Amino acid sequence: MTRSSMLLAALLTATGSVAAEGAFNSADDAIQYRQHAFQLIKENFGDMHAMLKGKKAMDSDAFQRRAKHLALLANIPFEAFKVAGSNQGDTEALASVWSDNAKFNRIAKEFQQASSELARVSAGGDVDAIGQAFGTTGKSCKGCHDQFKRD
Ligand code: HEC
Repeated sequence: MTRSSMLLAALLTATGSVAAEGAFNSADDAIQYRQHAFQLIKENFGDMHAMLKGKKAMDSDAFQRRAKHLALLANIPFEAFKVAGSNQGDTEALASVWSDNAKFNRIAKEFQQASSELARVSAGGDVDAIGQAFGTTGKSCKGCHDQFKRD
């Protein structure tokens, strides 16, 4: 083996063992994954909220970046709800996520559409349209949590 191929082999071994730890090898992993995704959703959404409410100076570049991140992040958590056994353990998801799954998926889709719309209008800079799209997005958070998440 050359020195560089040995380095490559060592690297593959190292990353292989890291990969074996995550991405849904267990129900607990799936729960953590979606919770972490929701934390990032909250960070991005909360920062936009602070700017819209004047709790923080409006920075339209930052706002657009947050909106773009949110539109991407809105797709991230939902695959992890499909992992068998992830209805139990350290989760705040209610049983209704699985018993009323069509409705859960419908609200998830509305959330994704609303956040894509928010990213789209943010780039345009129309304040009313931004406020409206932000409100619709926030309603989907609350609408889902009311029915599918423990307080
Ligand atoms: C389609 C349903 C749905 C939508 C839409 C949704 N959430 Fe959630 N959210 C959940 C569920 C279910 C959980 C519980 C996840 C778990 O504990 O396994 C959760 C958990 C959370 C958590 C807690 C994460 C943790 O660390 O345990 C935060 C924060 C959160 N959501 C914020 C938001 C915000 C902000 C929005 C909107 C911008 C949003 N969510 C939209 C269903 C949703």
